[in-house]
Amino acid sequence: MSQSEDTAGLADYYDRYWAGADPAALATHSYRDFQSDLHAYVSKQLGALAGLRVLEIGPGLGSATLELAGRGAEVWAVDISGQSLVAVRERLAEAGQTLRPVQMKSEELAVASASFDLVYVEAVLMHTDWRRTVRECVRVLKPSGRAIFVEPLRHHPAVALYRSTLSSFRQTRPHYLSWSDFAEIRGLFAGGQERPFYLLAPFSLPLRGTPLRRLAVPLRALDRALLRLSPLKRVAWYLVASYSL
Ligand SMILES: C[S@@+](CC[C@H](N)C(=O)[O-])C[C@H]1O[C@@H](n2cnc3c(N)ncnc32)[C@H](O)[C@@H]1O
Repeated sequence: MSQSEDTAGLADYYDRYWAGADPAALATHSYRDFQSDLHAYVSKQLGALAGLRVLEIGPGLGSATLELAGRGAEVWAVDISGQSLVAVRERLAEAGQTLRPVQMKSEELAVASASFDLVYVEAVLMHTDWRRTVRECVRVLKPSGRAIFVEPLRHHPAVALYRSTLSSFRQTRPHYLSWSDFAEIRGLFAGGQERPFYLLAPFSLPLRGTPLRRLAVPLRALDRALLRLSPLKRVAWYLVASYSL
């Protein structure tokens, strides 16, 4: 299958997904409550945004977009799914915010070079030709620009088992990135920070919707301690990488 056919199939998948055609799948894959600590960390990494031009790739339903625009950035959002962009635009309008939605592929961004202060990418690289996407991110950033990538990683054993058996995302054939892929990405930037998240806490995910879901809190705290140990970082579920040119 050619890459353009692949992209069309993925766009169809996400059009149906974001239209809520399968609310159960949407609920299962919404980890935002569970990931409140990760998003608090991302919020700090974003820093001051007022007046900055921000490009978000793959906004989905726009949870991050809302924050970026709410903090005063001029936000452009690109996604292959038209339905995503409709949903994001509506959601921002309800919040009194505006954005520039553009339906396009991250591998070929039809935007000027050196034109954005920040590129924000969450849970998207796994679906793209990531080397081309990241090179495009670098191209569109101003000389002092920053990029924040929030990505699920490849090597958590229990998550990998779930992905290969139960996850409905497996039909999209994602390529989850590894630390060595991120070493390559880091090499395109002058510097930055990488923080891994979640080792044991994912075991509490099947308990969502029950009182035992609170187990996530101590497990996340334990994970913060364990993930200071280098060998364990390799099997973290998520990585937040914040790089500057
Ligand atoms: C897993 S969702 C993540 C959505 C959102 N960032 C979040 O974290 O909730 C991936 C999004 O990336 C979009 N996407 C996938 N491949 C893309 C590509 N090559 N170019 C632009 N967007 C893409 C999908 O349409 C979808 O909206």
